[in-house]
Amino acid sequence: MTEKANEQNATIMLPDGKTIELPVMHGTVGPSAIDVRPLSNHGLFTFDEGFRSTASCASAITYIDGDEGVLLHRGYPIEQLAEKSNFIEVCYLLLHGDLPDKESYDSFEHQIRHHTMVHEQLIQFFNGFPRNAHPMAVMCGVVGALSAFYHDSLDVRNSEDRDIAALRLIAKMPTLAAMCYKYSIGHPFVYPLNRLGYADNFLHMMFSVPCANEEPNPIMARAMDRIFILHADHEQNASTSTVRMAGSSGANPFACIASGIAALWGPAHGGANEAVLKMLMTIGDPRNIDKFIAKAKDKEDPFRLMGFGHRIYKNYDPRAQVMRRTCHEVLKETHHLDDPLFEIAMRLEDIALKDEYFISKKLYPNVDFYSGIILRAIGIPTNMFTVIFALARTVGWIAHWREMISNPQMSISRPRQIYTGETVRDYTPIRKRKEQAK
Ligand code: SDX
Repeated sequence: MTEKANEQNATIMLPDGKTIELPVMHGTVGPSAIDVRPLSNHGLFTFDEGFRSTASCASAITYIDGDEGVLLHRGYPIEQLAEKSNFIEVCYLLLHGDLPDKESYDSFEHQIRHHTMVHEQLIQFFNGFPRNAHPMAVMCGVVGALSAFYHDSLDVRNSEDRDIAALRLIAKMPTLAAMCYKYSIGHPFVYPLNRLGYADNFLHMMFSVPCANEEPNPIMARAMDRIFILHADHEQNASTSTVRMAGSSGANPFACIASGIAALWGPAHGGANEAVLKMLMTIGDPRNIDKFIAKAKDKEDPFRLMGFGHRIYKNYDPRAQVMRRTCHEVLKETHHLDDPLFEIAMRLEDIALKDEYFISKKLYPNVDFYSGIILRAIGIPTNMFTVIFALARTVGWIAHWREMISNPQMSISRPRQIYTGETVRDYTPIRKRKEQAK
């Protein structure tokens, strides 16, 4: 934390009239935070359901300015990383804090390539699922099960264990994700090929079949790699906070990542990309857009414009803009520029951004609004969209888990509550209880 001379303390008047001084913590950039930890000495908690005003930790990995639409990974703007870097290099950056030199990059990339296989017995886990299981249900199961195969890397206090667990998880997520897809369509699993790059290898495992081993399309592989970059990390979002919470108990990294996958699944979070495509398909025709905009604005109607709005971005999500450009590139490459869903998405965006409701509530397209159209054009089925998000976000989850675990001051995360239940009362035998209200 940095010291700013003019804002050292916040003075708070307590309910009993006493005033206390609370230190103000400053980051290198962005909002400061009042350190409320001393409040518990006064028998008081803060209350912040949904954590709208709570900094749960100090972190040096990712910075977001929601008002300006800024997203930095270790200081590098997401637009520059998406344009000039690749996912493996972004993984190195998130984990180690700086862009690698050539030797470090080659060594890291070699390690990832040589950890892509999974234990053959993991295949038995897949056989226990119905073929039509949602792939996220399978991912929750098989990723958590990895801890049963790597007893040599579960000691979270050992930095070598942490390093090898990070490599294994980043390397094996594409293999497991592709296995989910292959299992769901009754195709044989496809083994990774060490000669292929990360995104190429994933597309190879997704779409190769024993009788036709085509090389992945380089435009699709580049688009896939960029989608991975755009989903890699996003500060203390719900799934990353879940991973930190699980990790604070000392749980092993595989179990922590499985908890992140579970949290990401929800439609308010990583499940939104799947929900966006279903919404665009339901709208079906640009002529129906106004009807759905009205539904999204109707307080009585639970319908929301999926892929719109964000807890932090009150401006354009910078990832959405890169995603829209990538969407255009992929649709052009696949000769689908006339894709009706893309047209509906662009019309929807255009109309919503001129509508007072969305303007007043600062609702802009987020990372999920265009990603589904790209994934669909690449040939990935809708129910695999959130799996792709989890695959990419694994590096962010691990980076935050490592940052927390390697902090010697780390302690278990254990929030308190405002209790609203009954005060103490004695047990009464059933024969003495009054008739339960009918
Ligand atoms: C991700 O946290 C992260 O960083 C997440 C993420 C990441 O990379 O990890 O960026 C990935 O999860 C992106 C978000 C994907 N989710 C969606 O696209 C689902 C649709 N969006 C919403 O459900 C909503 O916008 C949230 C969940 C994203 C944010 O919700 P908040 O911050 O709790 O905001 P809110 O629900 O309090 O909404 C504020 C107002 C409300 O109206 P009022 O009560 O003030 O009258 O805006 C309205 C909401 O009704 N609103 C919407 C809307 N989103 C918010 N109205 C219509 N359509 C929407 N999409």
